[in-house]
Amino acid sequence: MSDDRFLALIVDEDQELCRALSATLLDAGCQVECLRSGEGHYQAIRQLAPDLVILDVSMPESVGLDTLRRLGVHRSTKKIPVIATSRQAELEYELLDAFDFLPKPVDRRRLLEDVALLKANRHEHGLGYGPMNEEELALFQEYLLTHSGLHFDQSNIKILERGLQRRMRAIGARDYGAYCHYLERYGESRQEQKKLLGLLTVGETYFFRYLAHFDALIHHVLPELIERNRTRRSLRIWSAGCSTGEEPYTLAMLLCEHFPQLPTGMCRSSAPISTRWLCAGLAKDAMAPGRCG
Ligand SMILES: C[S@@+](CC[C@H](N)C(=O)[O-])C[C@H]1O[C@@H](n2cnc3c(N)ncnc32)[C@H](O)[C@@H]1O
Repeated sequence: MSDDRFLALIVDEDQELCRALSATLLDAGCQVECLRSGEGHYQAIRQLAPDLVILDVSMPESVGLDTLRRLGVHRSTKKIPVIATSRQAELEYELLDAFDFLPKPVDRRRLLEDVALLKANRHEHGLGYGPMNEEELALFQEYLLTHSGLHFDQSNIKILERGLQRRMRAIGARDYGAYCHYLERYGESRQEQKKLLGLLTVGETYFFRYLAHFDALIHHVLPELIERNRTRRSLRIWSAGCSTGEEPYTLAMLLCEHFPQLPTGMCRSSAPISTRWLCAGLAKDAMAPGRCG
């Protein structure tokens, strides 16, 4: 097999799309194969050993997702970069082991950028990453503190290493330094920062999570705050790290029930004290700013 060969394998049931993507990839100097319907995608990929798989992850009966999972598990296919495609754009931040995610209709320019990146780094692919040294930790410490406010040190370094290594494997970074470079360069333009943060934070949230906290708020903290703010007639509530908002909405419901004198935006009373909310969070799970006001 020639070292110059760059074989891109398209796995998609949409023949029209296969033709269009093939033309783009051929123009970029790739060899192209297409696999359409039917079972056995995984075995076919193993045999062809392509340099890139462009995989529709929304094929019926989870065939695409299953293939993606199997590629990532097996030693012989782990290193093959996968570009996941789908009409469901929201899958992007669920599929963090893929090299890239291209929502359909596929952006041709982004696909060409992916191919150029892969061709440039094809001999550098690392897989077995060890622990970080102090210098490497310092690099990410500073980047993450500046860009997200997240703080990492020796006490939570394992969480950081696990998250970094998953993204390093996905994009084929040689080592921590190479990934840091990629993060600095493509943090915004290729959403790398958001993808990494999705792996470094916990998005768990649900209504009435940790009842004891709400109990303390309702019976101790809020009565005192309301009393203190009586003359100002306003109450500002900041829900930090609110994720998708279950916590502030739970609080709003409890305020309605226990403090009918406060208009919460959900129960509109003519009460004399106004409430303002600031709900802030990070990463893919965060409420859109301004969703609670
Ligand atoms: C475990 S969730 C808790 C969600 C919610 N507060 C609740 O109790 O249901 C933690 C949330 O905090 C966010 N988060 C973590 N560190 C943050 C930071 N430095 N700034 C803003 N949000 C952060 C995460 O993205 C995640 O949505």
